[in-house]
Amino acid sequence: MVSVLDSVWEHLIVALDVPSWDQALELLRLLPQVRWWKVGLELYLGAGSEIVAVVRGQGKRIFLDLKLHDIPNTVAAATGILARQGVDLLTVHASGGLAMLRAAQQATQGTTCRLLGVTLLTSLTAPDLQNHLHVPLDPLDYVQHLAQTCQTAGIPGVVCSPWEAARVRQSCGPDLLIVTPGIRLQPGGDDQARTCTPAQARQQGADWIVVGRPITRAPDPQAALLAYAHNWLGDPCC
Ligand code: C5P
Repeated sequence: MVSVLDSVWEHLIVALDVPSWDQALELLRLLPQVRWWKVGLELYLGAGSEIVAVVRGQGKRIFLDLKLHDIPNTVAAATGILARQGVDLLTVHASGGLAMLRAAQQATQGTTCRLLGVTLLTSLTAPDLQNHLHVPLDPLDYVQHLAQTCQTAGIPGVVCSPWEAARVRQSCGPDLLIVTPGIRLQPGGDDQARTCTPAQARQQGADWIVVGRPITRAPDPQAALLAYAHNWLGDPCC
């Protein structure tokens, strides 16, 4: 049966931020509609790299969020291995520099893995950028700069907060994939600083949203998932 929500499952990625196989498989069971799952450091290190094949074996798509950041040779080698493990999306830090980004992109050739450059973490604020990282730009300009560096390197997409998505879309054009974490139905929450609702992220030009704890740690994950999915569609009920 066709559901009004069918289109949402190509735009909503749920973060499997749990430490064990059992907890990951339980979430897959509770949320059968979800097509895209994000495997991050916690699960990859807690369950082992085999978790990728297991989740894929359930017909799911994998966003492997390991945020690689090292010298070009090391990142290219790691990217080549991961891209051949059946990963659909893989993150590298955009601040790793143009040579690193080019080397990583080169390493995905011949695979279906698409790289995403992580711009500025959604947990960081403008004062963090200026006072602690000593970057004399505001987040909008800094994220735009890193997104354009990713484009120059041939990387097909970026991760940014919804607050910068419109600027990235405007400066990088319609083809760059934009993935936005920091999604909350109410402002703020947990350790996220630059947040928006799913509908706002979509309006700002996001192709995908990533939602973790508001769904996976909800008392009723299925109800929370539906609330986020309806909000993406702009459903006035949510
Ligand atoms: O639980 P929550 O919705 O905050 O999870 C967001 C997920 O997105 C986390 O797994 C986090 O590692 C990831 N992420 C992020 N900010 C980025 C890149 C990835 O929050 N810039």
